[in-house]
Amino acid sequence: MNFQFAEPFRIKMVENVKRTTKDQRQRWLKEAQFNVFRLRAEDVYIDCITDSGTSAMSSEQWAALMRGDESYAGSQSFYRMEASVQDVFGMPYVQPVHQGRAADFMLAQLYTQPGKYALGNMHFDTFRGNAEVAGAKVLDLVVDEGLDAASPASPFKGNLDIDKLEHAISTHGRDNITMVMVTVTCNNNGGQPVSMANLKAVGSICRKHQIPLVIDAARLSENAYFIKTREPEYADWEIKAITREMLSEAETAVMSAKKDGLVNIGGLFVTRNLDIYHQANQLSIVHEGFITYGGQAGRDMDALAVGLQESTRLDYLDYRIKQVDYLGQQLKLRNIPIIDPPGGHGIYVDAKRFFPHIPQSEFPAQRMVVALYEEAGIRCVELGACAFGSKDPVTKEPVWPALEVMRIAISRRVYTNRHLDCIVEALSYIYSQRETYKGMKLVYEGPITSLRHFTAGFELLP
Ligand code: F0G
Repeated sequence: MNFQFAEPFRIKMVENVKRTTKDQRQRWLKEAQFNVFRLRAEDVYIDCITDSGTSAMSSEQWAALMRGDESYAGSQSFYRMEASVQDVFGMPYVQPVHQGRAADFMLAQLYTQPGKYALGNMHFDTFRGNAEVAGAKVLDLVVDEGLDAASPASPFKGNLDIDKLEHAISTHGRDNITMVMVTVTCNNNGGQPVSMANLKAVGSICRKHQIPLVIDAARLSENAYFIKTREPEYADWEIKAITREMLSEAETAVMSAKKDGLVNIGGLFVTRNLDIYHQANQLSIVHEGFITYGGQAGRDMDALAVGLQESTRLDYLDYRIKQVDYLGQQLKLRNIPIIDPPGGHGIYVDAKRFFPHIPQSEFPAQRMVVALYEEAGIRCVELGACAFGSKDPVTKEPVWPALEVMRIAISRRVYTNRHLDCIVEALSYIYSQRETYKGMKLVYEGPITSLRHFTAGFELLP
């Protein structure tokens, strides 16, 4: 029997959080124009707006910080970080950057061309933005079930659809496609994993057409855990053997280390192409910092060297993925509609089924975000009509995204299952009186539609 199923750590430092009243929260919501990005974090009881940069570091990481070597060039910290990344990625060349989007910028500079396509399962916003600024076109080719929040549970909803990929290559022509990127796990549709079989199939098509394959490895270890537990051939593999096998298909990988690096800041551009590495070095010198620090302090790189190793430990991943799953199962028991199965870094609640009477033009997922903060001081994020809505370039009519969800992102090693129980209770309460909620109206948006959710202002419809 195994009686050691609790967290594989104990807590030796705590950060106090503040309990607040509904009156206070209603006032703060009004002041923030019902946009939770504009709240003060101290007024949030449980913060699930992101899993990025919010991990609790281990005592080993804090100890490593003290070893940080702050030399401008060639620091020991760089070499320790480089060795750790080479070990997990199985790739030789490592350019640190200050966070993931700086690596996305390099990727867009080095792997896209104006008017040509960058294909992917679902590009994360920061690569998409950088690619579009560089004049490239981007296409999301995730499997259909990954675009339907109500599709039945299946193991790898992050997979890139092979037929769609072949079709895109034959329609647009190989010469009009500069790269294919697979994001693991797929953040935009539920933190859903990509199978090894799918990565290999994509890899072989890319090799056949000589199109470079890139992996967005922000949640690499979590994806590897899903491969280990859902693809029988990998059941006996070590996590690091799986991460290396995944990346063996790719020429280059980018990573926001703020996720599976278990650090609060940092990113990586990693490649097996020496020429690309040299070009990334130049971009780093101009935009990030010298090659051996790229915008990170020596101590940041030491914390990352340790964090990356910790994130590939099976006991850690087992705790991590099962904690997120616990939240999902509790919500399902109360009939709350989620993207099923639960993803790696959070639960995505389907607002179309939660508030079926609120049309997408009235922001049902944002309404849920506001309700959850109002009732419980819990902060989540809308991934729906506000974040991913766009306008038809010709008619200027709004175009609504397929998914209309509220993401409950779970920070790594930060909250207990009791905190998750608060989320379950609060959301069940809101669900029990869902008919009483009305939609919202967008009253302010910034000039760039794809970034509007960060600064948008709303009103509640009467
Ligand atoms: N790629 C993926 C898959 C991400 O999820 C993120 C960030 C980035 C790249 C950019 O990395 O923030 O370090 O610059 N995702 C965060 C989120 C912001 O909340 O999902 P960054």
